[in-house]
Amino acid sequence: MSEAKRLAGEKAIEFVEDGMIVGVGTGSTVAFFIDALAGIKDRIKGAVSSSDQSTARLKQHGIEVLDLNHTGTLSLYVDGADECDPHKRLIKGGGAALTREKIIAEASKQFVCIVDPSKQVPVLGKFPLPVEVIPMARSLVAREILALTGGQPVWRDGTVTDNGNLILDIHNLSITDPVAMEREINQIPGVVSVGLFARRPADIVIVGGEPPIVLK
Ligand code: 5RP
Repeated sequence: MSEAKRLAGEKAIEFVEDGMIVGVGTGSTVAFFIDALAGIKDRIKGAVSSSDQSTARLKQHGIEVLDLNHTGTLSLYVDGADECDPHKRLIKGGGAALTREKIIAEASKQFVCIVDPSKQVPVLGKFPLPVEVIPMARSLVAREILALTGGQPVWRDGTVTDNGNLILDIHNLSITDPVAMEREINQIPGVVSVGLFARRPADIVIVGGEPPIVLK
């Protein structure tokens, strides 16, 4: 699978244009993209990073990391996913970086999602849906999500997000209306963000392989 991730990450470089500030996601597929971005670092202005992990890798390569508050709207965001449906709606957050990823996706004109073929699914929900929660609301949110969705919330014990919050992973879902579920979970007090990217899906999906497939 890591070969497919590499091929997807490297293909995404074709979407980077001279002078861009590039939004950069998180994960093992994105790590290949960052390594490829290093090869053209003199052609870009810098990057906006979605996690401490990606920031460290970008800086190791000498790529300047900029504050989204100073960059304004970005032309391009490149990120991976845990699941991707035929409408380019995603589950993300396996790496616990969903909130910053969602912020950068929202701030970007074009969202290019890079995946290996195992991430393609007809219906989202086999991968447990990550939800970032304020620590004091963990149990409340778990009870409300159980009542709302019927899914089983499991606390990702030991994980603290870059924002100092916790993750609940919701098991046993079959998400036939991801836009509605995203909206409803977002409304529970204590939820910071939900790892459904349906209201703002990807614009382009690159599926790694020989050759990579670009879904527009
Ligand atoms: C991190 C994410 C990642 O994009 C997702 O978990 C996929 O990771 P990988 O590329 O390692 O399979 O959403 O929060």
